[in-house]
Amino acid sequence: MREFERDKWGRLLERVLQSPTGVDVKELDEWFHNGLPSLVLDQGELVLRDPVAAYRSYVALLRETIVAHAVGATALVELGAGYGSVLLGVAADPALARCQLTAAELTPSGRRLTKLVAAATGMLVEAVECDLEAESIMQLTPAPGSIIFTSFALMYLNRLPSVFFERVASWRPSMVIHVEPCTEHSDTQTILGLLQRRYAEVNGYNLTIASDICAAQAQGIVEVTLSEPNWVGTNPLLPGSLIMWRPVHRASG
Ligand SMILES: C[S@@+](CC[C@H](N)C(=O)[O-])C[C@H]1O[C@@H](n2cnc3c(N)ncnc32)[C@H](O)[C@@H]1O
Repeated sequence: MREFERDKWGRLLERVLQSPTGVDVKELDEWFHNGLPSLVLDQGELVLRDPVAAYRSYVALLRETIVAHAVGATALVELGAGYGSVLLGVAADPALARCQLTAAELTPSGRRLTKLVAAATGMLVEAVECDLEAESIMQLTPAPGSIIFTSFALMYLNRLPSVFFERVASWRPSMVIHVEPCTEHSDTQTILGLLQRRYAEVNGYNLTIASDICAAQAQGIVEVTLSEPNWVGTNPLLPGSLIMWRPVHRASG
């Protein structure tokens, strides 16, 4: 919580509040991701990239992926949405224009930033409090037919609550999409793979996301429709795997 509330989103919020003109999401992304060119993982290759450009490529790739499932979607909901940048970047696509937008986030500064940049960007977003680690998980009630997604957020939970997949499935989403580092996907035959695993361990990130999704599938709660290990890596030591699932509808009674 401190990493984001104080050190990251808190500092960005102070800067935004001092800006006389308001700050849109593109400008905020530049403030946050600005830096020297650094190594990123692009389709398995390590390449040197400008960090803002690498982040934008990631958002564009995720937008394309989500838009492929946009037909009939009622809402777009991001869990652990930070300052709303990915949600707003994805939702800018005209194919998602009819979707209600919900940013669910733990930190007050993240939620406040989301509302400020959405307003400056001319988009309507509901920013709601949520603790993904709580058993109650969410008082959230997305409309049936929503697309729910996470991007580098589940990795911060020590453990996914046992009810996580059941709860999300009970919302009857049309698709659930995770982009999360999955240490189970690190190639232990390469130095890079071993370093990725060690990086997650040392930082205390969740080590069982892919296994938990497999277990939910084995329990008949979800049907995994796509699993793309190490899909993107703006930090090559922390590549995000892409995993998509749909709820399995069980006959009641
Ligand atoms: C690395 S940021 C990612 C933000 C955004 N999804 C993105 O891709 O830019 C991780 C986010 O997860 C949020 N988070 C961490 N633990 C959480 C929890 N238990 N419940 C909800 N959000 C949480 C953090 O506050 C932070 O905003």
